[in-house]
Amino acid sequence: MNVLIIGGAGYIGSHVARHFLDNNHKVTVFDNLSTGQKINIFSDEKFILGDILNTRQLDDAMKEGFDLIIHLAAFKAAGESMINPEKYSVNNITGTINILNSAVKAGIGAIVFSSSAAVYGEPQYVPADEGHPLNPENYYGFTKLEIERFLGWYSKLKGLKFAALRYFNAAGYDAKGRIKGLEKNPANLLPIIMEVACGKREKLSIFGNDYPTADGTCIRDYIHVTDLATGHLAAAEYILRTGKNITVNLGTGNGISVREMTELARKVTGQAIPAVYTDRRPGDPAVLVAKSDLAYQLLGWKAVNSSAENLISTSWNLYRKD
Ligand code: UFG
Repeated sequence: MNVLIIGGAGYIGSHVARHFLDNNHKVTVFDNLSTGQKINIFSDEKFILGDILNTRQLDDAMKEGFDLIIHLAAFKAAGESMINPEKYSVNNITGTINILNSAVKAGIGAIVFSSSAAVYGEPQYVPADEGHPLNPENYYGFTKLEIERFLGWYSKLKGLKFAALRYFNAAGYDAKGRIKGLEKNPANLLPIIMEVACGKREKLSIFGNDYPTADGTCIRDYIHVTDLATGHLAAAEYILRTGKNITVNLGTGNGISVREMTELARKVTGQAIPAVYTDRRPGDPAVLVAKSDLAYQLLGWKAVNSSAENLISTSWNLYRKD
């Protein structure tokens, strides 16, 4: 297929682009390189430097006519979204409306959207399935939920087909080391552990050890970016083949605590990784784990690269060289 990947120079987007290229699809990446990186652009894809807030740039990019758009261009720091919601309104919401309007204008009929487990908010039960109440705890999650709703309306009114993929905690790097861009100023657990392991940071702060979990630290469902990438291709093929919309979780169903992840990272990297316990981070649920049966039923998709060891070792391959 001929696919436009918006945000394709970013951490997840570059893994998705690589997977489509590996499967002989034609890829054009549209990215403003605000968090995406030049080093993540591959020689076998076309690159357009452009911004989703610039409707002319979007219209020009889409003129070529694509079978499908993959939209991963969003800000994603939940904590920052509570302090600076304006930034998230403009980029995540206005930017997506621009994409949808340009797609409709260009006659592009299908889109795969990066949604998030953040749409569920504080879990009322785990593992959370797609029928779990939608009650985001942070503004970032609210923007993702609103976009899911726009997709529903554009589907009804304009016939746009969509897949909304609710990612759980994305982690890891391409096992072959082909994606070289390390995230700048990461806010997520695993890249922070890696920065401590390679000496870029002094220590890890573990946010709270008094949660109602076995070791008192939060439990999350970490999914390897390569598994996310296979999920995108499976979802794209599904909506193009069936003409049906889908909203599915992409997770593993397995939880691992912050402390367990830290201890395992010490083993895998052979580094001390100093850590201290600090106060809880506001808005962190104790446990968030996905039920991903629907993705398996509809797409035949399963996470196969997401063991904690693999998340750590594929990341360490890159960080140790940095
Ligand atoms: N954590 C620490 N110290 C750190 C960073 C994180 O202890 O320096 C802890 C957090 O408190 C949390 C766990 O590690 O318990 C994971 O935190 P992340 O910030 O890596 O991820 P979140 O679970 O907060 O959120 C991530 C994405 C969201 C997405 C969500 C879905 O950042 O975009 O997963 O599960 F919505």
